Amino acid sequence: MTQLQDKTANTHACEVSIIVPTYQEADALGPLIERIGAVRGGGLDLKVIIVDDNSQDGTEELIASIGLPWVRLITRTEDRGLSSAVLCGLAQANGRVLIVMDADLSHPPEVIPNFIAALDGAADFVVGSRYVPGGSTEDGWGVLRWINSKIATWMARPFTTVRDPMSGFLGFRRETWSAAVDLDPVGYKIGLELIVKCRCRHVTEVPIHFSTRRYGQSKLSLRVQLQYLTHIIRLARWKFPGWSSFVPFAMVGLSGIAVYAFLLWLLQAWFGERISEDLQIIIAIAIAMVWNFIFDRWLAFWYARRRSIVRQFVGFLAVCSIPVIVNFFVTRWLIDDQFVTPAAGVVGALVGSTAGVIFNWVVVRAFVFRTQTPAGGD
Ligand code: GDD
Ligand code: MN
Repeated sequence: MTQLQDKTANTHACEVSIIVPTYQEADALGPLIERIGAVRGGGLDLKVIIVDDNSQDGTEELIASIGLPWVRLITRTEDRGLSSAVLCGLAQANGRVLIVMDADLSHPPEVIPNFIAALDGAADFVVGSRYVPGGSTEDGWGVLRWINSKIATWMARPFTTVRDPMSGFLGFRRETWSAAVDLDPVGYKIGLELIVKCRCRHVTEVPIHFSTRRYGQSKLSLRVQLQYLTHIIRLARWKFPGWSSFVPFAMVGLSGIAVYAFLLWLLQAWFGERISEDLQIIIAIAIAMVWNFIFDRWLAFWYARRRSIVRQFVGFLAVCSIPVIVNFFVTRWLIDDQFVTPAAGVVGALVGSTAGVIFNWVVVRAFVFRTQTPAGGD
């Protein structure tokens, strides 16, 4: 069975393609198409592509009964999800300008001419925005939804300065969309994904009044909200690979020092004098190293996770050997009246790490970037 069941194909190119992802929006579609029809009546050559995830709620019958040549329904039966539905619709669209909007009448189709005007000017991407002058949100958003939306917006800050990056009302030229790389449609925020992955420079926000839906229910589940966190992490790794490796690495390093100090305290409390201090330090160091290795591999060096863990662990041990040896002796030297204290561990680990960095600097300077070329070298 093919994945796309195309009911009303019509393929000649048009000026504007409007992609509307739907899941159980049959009640809203009639009024939506009517309002889009009015915009079309104003002289815009536009077509609508509805990408429905097999809602089985009368959507197919409705579109068939309306029977408009400029409204096409694609029913997906295998994939699910808002962002992938949008990408599916975009892949089928042939307009010069591409618009994406919700079906539930939260997004007013009447502003589409403003989108096109902006795109014919300097904009390479347009967002229907609640947070620019002239934009608004209909009352009735609970405090929780509002806070939620604010936090989500704030988390998108490193990727774009757009005031309403959460918007799903989007417009862009076909070339912008063709320039997209590595699209990874997880969750809801396909607008943010496109702004980042199409490397958009001029994003214009067109003010909209965001209406509360009149028909059906929101599909914004907890699962979709958690997917947003995954999305943000993926965007960070894509856009700032260096920082998204270094920051977790530094945090894991700090946590490793805390783990080491805690273990020293725990081993001392458990075993007291039944095992030697040296052994206590060695056990604590070994566990802290495994801790660092596991979390570094997972959070800081995610891009190498497919490679052999055994070889990586051996390499990790080798690189850690200098800091570990220094740490061991400093901790031991600081032992307070035969007691291994957590504070000694913190100092030991810090001195050890510093020694490691200095050692690497000296070695790299002396052997990798030395100024004299070795005699006989070419
Ligand atoms: N095909 C398909 N598959 N469509 C879906 C799916 C899905 O799994 N989930 C949701 N949709 C469609 C809905 O039918 C609707 O047309 C649109 O996507 C938005 O879904 P809503 O459930 O109405 O989302 P919302 O109101 O919570 O979110 C809206 O506001 C956000 C900003 O606060 C949307 O506009 C978001 O795009 C926007 O980011
Ligand atoms: Mn909605």
